Amino acid sequence: MTNKSNFPEGFLWGGALAANQVEGAYLEDGKGLTTVDLMPTGEKRWQIATGNIASLTPMEGEYYPSHEAIDFYHRYKEDIALFSEMGFKALRVSISWARIFPNGDDKTPNEAGLQFYDDLFDELHKYNMEPVVTMAHFDVPVHLVEKYGSWRNRKLVDFFENYAKTIFTRYKDKVKYWMTFNEINMLLHMPFVGAGLVFKEGENETQIKYQAAHHQLVASARAVKACHEIIPDAQIGCMLAGGSMYPYTCNPDDVYRAMERDRESFFFIDVQSRGAYPGYAKRFFKEHNLTIELEAEDEALLKNNTVDYIGFSYYSSRTASTDPEVLRNQTSGNVFGSVKNPYLKTSEWGWTIDPKGFRITANQLYDRYQKPLFVVENGLGAVDEVNADGTIDDDYRIDYLRQHIAEMGEAIKDGVDIIGYTSWGPVDIVSASTGEMKKRYGYIYVDRDNKGNGTLKRTKKKSFNWYKKVIETNGKEL
Ligand code: BG6
Repeated sequence: MTNKSNFPEGFLWGGALAANQVEGAYLEDGKGLTTVDLMPTGEKRWQIATGNIASLTPMEGEYYPSHEAIDFYHRYKEDIALFSEMGFKALRVSISWARIFPNGDDKTPNEAGLQFYDDLFDELHKYNMEPVVTMAHFDVPVHLVEKYGSWRNRKLVDFFENYAKTIFTRYKDKVKYWMTFNEINMLLHMPFVGAGLVFKEGENETQIKYQAAHHQLVASARAVKACHEIIPDAQIGCMLAGGSMYPYTCNPDDVYRAMERDRESFFFIDVQSRGAYPGYAKRFFKEHNLTIELEAEDEALLKNNTVDYIGFSYYSSRTASTDPEVLRNQTSGNVFGSVKNPYLKTSEWGWTIDPKGFRITANQLYDRYQKPLFVVENGLGAVDEVNADGTIDDDYRIDYLRQHIAEMGEAIKDGVDIIGYTSWGPVDIVSASTGEMKKRYGYIYVDRDNKGNGTLKRTKKKSFNWYKKVIETNGKEL
């Protein structure tokens, strides 16, 4: 299929990873424990993710996939060489806060951790690949949870700012694209994953979540300020778990509900990009008796330090309804509750597949913010079978990506300014929601199963050469 739309010159094609899902080496070279290191696979994972079971020390008999992950810490050179073979112009990675400050509140950084990312960025530059760096991707140093209650505590803002200044100063010549919090709106859905929150019985969870959100928003603005001061030629963005909400019917109640659900997410980006709490949020706080504690400096800080671009992930659209009958028919879509859309199919994990929704989401975000967009995650999590001769025919993945990239091209033709596209998990990685390895997104297969068995050997899938061609032709040949 030849795509007629032209992606701009210099479009940043690539892939995206997160430290905790790839690195492993979870206590090596001085790294401290992070929240995700205490999230096992299996039944308990979801309750831990939502902050309803505390998990602050490893439990006997549980398997923790982040401890070794895909051993990127030791194998990144091999993986980056493969990415370069596909022609990647950019690689999105995250820095693990606990590699730099093992406890989060340490006075001095851990040199071995800093050196690891120096080497990683050098390796990327060797292949002319632009590092795109997320500062916090679902990991909080555990010490900060134990001692301060994590992001519910204002002190985290200062610790994060210190971390931000440290990494900006260290990598100012190597990293020009930054993002503060990965999928910041995920805090409302997986509060332990997004913000290290653990709830005690009887606590007002909504109050705690929005106070923690305020702290992250202030921390994000402080990071934007520091980034602009320390690296004037860098760009720093926010990062939204995207995917538009559709009304199930044209009943105005459904339409309004969909808007409300979208605003649960837009709330964060409205603050980060427009610089102030929107009216609908203030009304929500009032009607739910929530009191968000603000300090004197906050309003001006948020106003004067907005992001340069909007990073977002897109996997699925979502559908909202007010009809109790319809509401029974739920499906998932990157953790967000959604009713099943009768027009669309779902993945093996129940995530709605909606390529046109990608174009809709991109247009919606651009209309709303009028800032460049960066698609920093998109892809299909699927089970791959290895053929007897060792090859892997992942045509379903190619189909998914082909259709989504075509719609992204349409969005660009619509006038949406998109800087780049880094597909999720270009090499197979640990799933964030389930901890599984068999939910694979990669162009490169990793020999590793859900229990941690396997040689970790990397093998190219059919999609490898397909994506290579996409990049080579700047999206003309899909
Ligand atoms: C996003 C996260 O929510 O979706 C990633 O930023 C995550 O960390 C990705 O891996 C896909 O989700 P999952 O659960 O399939 O790994």
